[in-house]
Amino acid sequence: KLQAVLFDLDGVITDTAKYHFTAWKQMAERIGIEIDSEFNESLKGIERMQSLERILIHGQQEHKYTQEEKERLAQQKNDEYVALLASLTPEDTYPGIKELLQQLRDNGIPAVIASASKNAPLILDALQLRDYFHAIVDPSGIPGKPQPDIFLKAAEQAGADPSCCIGVEDSQAGIEAIRAAGMYAVGIGEENILGPFGADIVYASTRELSLQKLLAAANLE
Ligand code: BG6
Ligand code: MG
Repeated sequence: KLQAVLFDLDGVITDTAKYHFTAWKQMAERIGIEIDSEFNESLKGIERMQSLERILIHGQQEHKYTQEEKERLAQQKNDEYVALLASLTPEDTYPGIKELLQQLRDNGIPAVIASASKNAPLILDALQLRDYFHAIVDPSGIPGKPQPDIFLKAAEQAGADPSCCIGVEDSQAGIEAIRAAGMYAVGIGEENILGPFGADIVYASTRELSLQKLLAAANLE
């Protein structure tokens, strides 16, 4: 029986994945590195400093900066990102999400945020969705996706058995993390991008999500 649904945030609850991409792209361009949307798939779900490392390796600049300089670059990216979040309102919640959260609430099934982002509380407040979540996992100090830890922590906070949880993700690293945690992995996006990473089912849009469909797909009725 389904015990909890664990949600990634960026690119699942709302379209902030595009703001991460914009902010990284601008920062990378300033140091002479080009990033395209295909490379960006490998950044999704990855913690901030790790993302920067990947970008530097991509541009063959991994030995160029001191730790302090790297922290400054990541800070610049985050400042730009947070500025982009200023316009976020409840209308920016992806279609079908609020309805699904309401169905979960009506059925007493906890929803938990399992995001790598330190900006998760800020975003959930802007969307006015915080009350729908039983908990927001604090990603600091635990191994990031594709390691299973964030999802295992989310299950633990909901008091749920991992094998009775569904994880919802738009990133390759996140899908891997859900599978490594022994949970049913729902992808939001494209089958050819998320399928190879182990997604059990992929929906093109959050519009297609419903509790009934998830229960049937995951065989957790
Ligand atoms: C993930 C995003 O949710 O959070 C990544 O998919 C991002 O793109 C990561 O780098 C960390 O986010 P933040 O807001 O803490 O920099
Ligand atoms: Mg995401």
